[in-house]
Amino acid sequence: MSEPISRRRFLELGAATAAVPHFHVPVRRRAPAPAAVSSANGLRSVQIAVEKMRAGVSPVEAAVLGIEPVENDPEDDSVGYGGLPNEDGVVELDACVMDGPTGLAGAVAALRNVKNPAKVALLVLRRTDHVLLVGEGALRFARAHGIPEENLLTEASRRKWLAWKESRSKTDDWLEPGENEPAGARPKVERKTGTIHVGCVNEAGDLGGATSTSGLAFKIPGRVGDSPLIGCGNYVDNEVGVAGSTGRGEAVILTNGAAYVVHAMRQGRSPTDACLDACRRVVACTRIPRLLDGKGRPDFQVNFYAVNKAGVTGAAALFPSRHARMTANGPELVDSAALFER
Ligand code: GLY
Repeated sequence: MSEPISRRRFLELGAATAAVPHFHVPVRRRAPAPAAVSSANGLRSVQIAVEKMRAGVSPVEAAVLGIEPVENDPEDDSVGYGGLPNEDGVVELDACVMDGPTGLAGAVAALRNVKNPAKVALLVLRRTDHVLLVGEGALRFARAHGIPEENLLTEASRRKWLAWKESRSKTDDWLEPGENEPAGARPKVERKTGTIHVGCVNEAGDLGGATSTSGLAFKIPGRVGDSPLIGCGNYVDNEVGVAGSTGRGEAVILTNGAAYVVHAMRQGRSPTDACLDACRRVVACTRIPRLLDGKGRPDFQVNFYAVNKAGVTGAAALFPSRHARMTANGPELVDSAALFER
């Protein structure tokens, strides 16, 4: 995707990056069209994001607007309203946004009673001198901006939480249905780390990204994953690209996943290859037996998504997975590159 650059531009770039001479600096070029990439639950989101960018909305705000319907959707139990709660049965949401042109970011973590945390993260970016607000402080900030509060726990999510709580131990006082009767059903509940990330590039080649999640299902209250952490669940470098992640947040935090992808793109890697590099890094950093399967591979999933300044999208995961993208070809749900077969 590179193109010749003038001697003057070459010298400017060289001066700007004198402190990091090992990095290849990609050439700035215009994106062929607005483009967006997202997790598999973001097919609507990438369409909305690109429509918004075509209408002149900035990439970071377009990403937030793309995420909003998924946050509002009670059927998606990994994001926003209807997200699976913490171990006390309380929904706690995390989100962050990053704006390429200004290099600013905003984030909220462990936010309760507000279903659109990405919107609050955008307010943190625009209306504070901070990057991250958590818990009660984040809620008070949202309240100050007139964001409505509501109970985020749907009946379906409450039932899943109760089934999880009742099936945890045979030595506590919470009994599964039927345990006081001769025979009973024992529903199995999966602990998920679903999330949505949307990365955007507009026609001018400006970038923005947002990530939003309810985090790990039934987490310890106050647990924060990668999603609200800049450089982990979302990262933007307006000269290079935007990247984000979903899956086991702890593994992404320990590898600074999204920043790793963007730095790899800065060194000339394609978005997909950069995402694969980050997956390999997760594997290399996962060493303790309790996190490995019988083949010595991580026993969890991590996905990375990226779009570069030229509008090229890519994604990779540890295990087979899909992602959504919107390019000149329209909205698509496509396979991600994968390190391992299931
Ligand atoms: N990736 C979402 C989380 O771990 O919270």
